[in-house]
Amino acid sequence: QEAHAAEMERTFIAIKPDGVQRGLIAEIISRFERKGFKLVAIKILIPSKEFAQKHYDDLKERPFFNGLCEFLSSGPVIAMVWEGEGVIKYGRKLIGATDPQKSEPGTIRGDLAVVVGRNIIHGSDGPETAKNEINLWFQPQELVSYTINAEKWIY
Ligand code: PPS
Repeated sequence: QEAHAAEMERTFIAIKPDGVQRGLIAEIISRFERKGFKLVAIKILIPSKEFAQKHYDDLKERPFFNGLCEFLSSGPVIAMVWEGEGVIKYGRKLIGATDPQKSEPGTIRGDLAVVVGRNIIHGSDGPETAKNEINLWFQPQELVSYTINAEKWIY
């Protein structure tokens, strides 16, 4: 059965300032693309510290909260929405464990990152968070609905 775009699962993925500075944008996007997920929103922006605090609101009691917010707002971030069956859970799998010392080779953090405070990418950790994060980072009209038809471009 074919799932319709409107019912398709979506997740929020951000390439953090370290990932952008290290030139890993294409590498990271390509892993989601090759898996078969669909990019439905993307932009580059420097989040304000206040915005970062909103994004990480759940973590405000944690000792690293301030540093984490400073870091996220320290430079350009690539904010994206990816769509596909199981994309929330599987996106986290592609990303790998929070601590890059524990993430498996083959995952984004396992292959490309070394320390926990600088782990290059963020992904929503569940359906509720995904919805909230997409709403925080994007206006509804920034999400593009389209079908992929490769046949059309084969000559
Ligand atoms: S926890 O402990 O389960 O709540 O942590 P987790 O959900 O795995 O991580 C939440 C985000 O906090 C970041 N994090 C840290 N940043 C800096 N220093 C330390 N020690 C630290 N521990 C966790 C972690 O990367 C998560 O950020 P995102 O952007 O969601 O990956």
